[in-house]
Amino acid sequence: MGLETKRLILREWKDSDLEPFAALNSDPEVMEFFPKTMTLDETAAMIDRIKARHAEDGFCLWATEEKETGDFIGFVGLGRPLFEAKFMPCVEIGWRLARSYWGKGYAPEAAIEVLRDGFENYGLDEIVSFTAALNSKSIRVMEKISMCRNPDDDFDHPNVPDGHHLKPHVLYRITQRDWRAKS
Ligand SMILES: CC(C)(COP(=O)(O)OP(=O)(O)OC[C@H]1O[C@@H](n2cnc3c(N)ncnc32)[C@H](O)[C@@H]1OP(=O)(O)O)[C@@H](O)C(=O)NCCC(=O)NCCS
Repeated sequence: MGLETKRLILREWKDSDLEPFAALNSDPEVMEFFPKTMTLDETAAMIDRIKARHAEDGFCLWATEEKETGDFIGFVGLGRPLFEAKFMPCVEIGWRLARSYWGKGYAPEAAIEVLRDGFENYGLDEIVSFTAALNSKSIRVMEKISMCRNPDDDFDHPNVPDGHHLKPHVLYRITQRDWRAKS
């Protein structure tokens, strides 16, 4: 169960992930493009939701571990967002890593394997990714894994208050057909 890349293991969540996941979820720099940081209880509830999705879908936002050290570094994986938007229902690829692991190409390395799994093993027709329009780091990851943005898909996130600087979002997509052509 789970996935593996050259430098990373994407696996099911363990009890020992709670503490390092709560630490990165409470880091204002990691959470710069979310409306707020998360408490320990909110992090525990998020892990429970991810585990439930895993049981239902087979895929999930995987707990991600650095092979060299065995450190938990964050998550990369697939989810089914639930808010109202014109592109719903969809399967989303997402990522969130602790700051000390940024800049090593870990998110795109894991994401490439997550896309392969989604298309080859789950037969998904399309995978999307979205983020606040200001989140250039996440947008770089989308571009590195050959996802494409159509400005017509840009949207205001319904869960972010009107007028908030994080409300405008961009949507990137990749279809199975395009993924096969590019792989
Ligand atoms: C987005 C994120 C997962 C990228 O992961 P990563 O493994 O660092 O990805 P990369 O190494 O490919 O770097 C992607 C870009 O991030 C930026 N970046 C990398 N390290 C950085 C650092 N230490 N400080 C500032 N920016 C950095 C660079 O622009 C880089 O692009 P480049 O390689 O063309 O220079 C990571 O920055 C993160 O967890 N951010 C917070 C959570 C988040 O915003 N998640 C997405 C929400 S939708």
